[in-house]
Amino acid sequence: MSVPVGGGAEAALGAVRARLARARRVAALTGAGVSAASGLPTFRGALGFWREHRAEDLATPQAYARDPLLVWEWYAARFHAAAAAAPNGAHLHLARLEAQLPDFTLVTQNVDGLHARSGSRRVLELHGNLTKSRCERCGHLDALAPGFALPPCCSRCGSRARPNVVWFGEHLPERAFEAAAAAFSRAEVALVIGTSGVVEPAASLGRLAAQRGAVVVEINPEPTPLTPYATLSLRQDAVSGLHALLGPLTPPPG
Ligand code: APR
Repeated sequence: MSVPVGGGAEAALGAVRARLARARRVAALTGAGVSAASGLPTFRGALGFWREHRAEDLATPQAYARDPLLVWEWYAARFHAAAAAAPNGAHLHLARLEAQLPDFTLVTQNVDGLHARSGSRRVLELHGNLTKSRCERCGHLDALAPGFALPPCCSRCGSRARPNVVWFGEHLPERAFEAAAAAFSRAEVALVIGTSGVVEPAASLGRLAAQRGAVVVEINPEPTPLTPYATLSLRQDAVSGLHALLGPLTPPPG
C-alpha cells in the first residue's frame, strides 16, 4: 500500500506505528537516499554523474585496472564531500532506534560513513566504507585523511592501496551479508529507506523479510521493485518518512 504524504491511509500508518512500537526485532536497510538530505548525491538520480561518468562506469575492478587515478579521483571527491557533510535527521532517527530496541540491525549500502558519525554503533556496511583504503597486496586498512595523496600507499607494506569499497562484480563481505540476512529473516518489522532496490543481493533483504511475514515499510519518494512486497510505502523523503513513522526526534534526556 502506498501512502502519499497526507494520504488518506492514516489508519495504515497508525497500524504500522503501533506494530513498530511493540516490536523487539527490527532491521533497516538504507541506500543513498538517506544521505541526500546531507547533500550527497544519489547514484541513479539527476546528480548521479561525476564529470561524464556514471557510478556503474567507475565502481568496477576493470575501471580501476584501466585508470586507477581516475577512479581514485572519484573516490577522493566523494571522501571529501562526505567529510564535509553532516549526518541528517534520518541518520539520527536510526541511531536512536538502535539505542531503544533490544534487537535492531542497521544494514547500509552507503559507503559515506554517516551512520557511524550519527551515533549508530552496529552498522553492517555491505558495500564497504570510503573513509579507508585497502592495500592491494596485504589487505591492510588505512584511515584516509583529508588531502590524502593519490593513489594512497599501504602504511604497512608500501604497496598501492585501493578504495575499501565493494565494486560491481565483487563479492560482498560474507559475514556482513550473512548477519544482514539473519536480521531480516527474524525481523518483526523491516524498514527499507532511500534505495532504488536494483542492486543485488542487498535488494533481496526487503523481500526476505516480507516472505518471512514481517511488516515491511518502504520510505522512498519513488516506487521501487520492493514496493509490491511492502506492507506500507511512504512516498516521502527519508527524514519526513521517519518522522511520520517514529515521531519527531526528541532531544536526548538530560
Ligand atoms: N529520501 C529518501 N529516498 C530518496 C531521497 C530522499 N531524500 N532522494 C532520493 N531517494 C531515493 C531515490 O528515489 C532512489 O530510489 O533513493 C534511491 C537512491 O537510489 P540509488 O541512487 O540507486 O542508490 P542506492 O539504492 O543506494 O544504490 C545501491 O548501487 O551504485 C551502487 O554501490 C552503489 O550502494 C550503491 C548501490
